[in-house]
Amino acid sequence: MPEVASVLYGREDIRRRVEELGRTIAGDHAGREPVLVTVLKGGAVFLADLIRCIDLPVQTHFMAISRYGDAEESHGRVKILLDVDADLTGRDVLLVEDIVDTGLTSRYLSSVLRSRGAASVELCTLLDKSVRRIVPLVPRYIGFDCPDRFVVGYGLDFAERYRNLPDILQVEDLEALRHDPDILTTMLATA
Ligand code: IMP
Ligand code: MG
Repeated sequence: MPEVASVLYGREDIRRRVEELGRTIAGDHAGREPVLVTVLKGGAVFLADLIRCIDLPVQTHFMAISRYGDAEESHGRVKILLDVDADLTGRDVLLVEDIVDTGLTSRYLSSVLRSRGAASVELCTLLDKSVRRIVPLVPRYIGFDCPDRFVVGYGLDFAERYRNLPDILQVEDLEALRHDPDILTTMLATA
């Protein structure tokens, strides 16, 4: 039987890359105190590891959003369920995302953060599905340039499952996963 999913980025690759990103971000922001804003829930795992690799004072804030249908239909506009509860005037904001796909969500959230008076708003994403981009948006910090495959693990879900997988898996058989969303639970047992 062909595998439903396979490891795309293993936990060691992720750890090394997150460390590199943290060092680069710290170097680029030396002497400043960046505000890291993460979108729940997917970004939480990445943020937790990333901030421990940034040797600078940082602030962390969370946003939660709900989509009106899919990103393309809504042009990336989302309903903000949880908002940053700090004054961003004059601050250097880093929007931390698990994955940028079409780019619509990140573009919308960046514009929201800019409208709060931030001095700068930059984007850091663990995964960049750049081939799927429909708006011109290039994140400043990218963990991995991700192939056009559905991925789960390390914060990323399918129907709220698999965020706790330590590796990032690419789904080989999306039909099988749609049919049985729990089909990958054996991957959790062996993780
Ligand atoms: P977009 O860049 O506006 O298209 O939306 C990106 C959002 O879609 C991400 O924050 C994820 O919630 C979701 N997403 C896109 N691709 C994947 C994937 O491969 N696995 C899990 N979620 C994904
Ligand atoms: Mg999701």
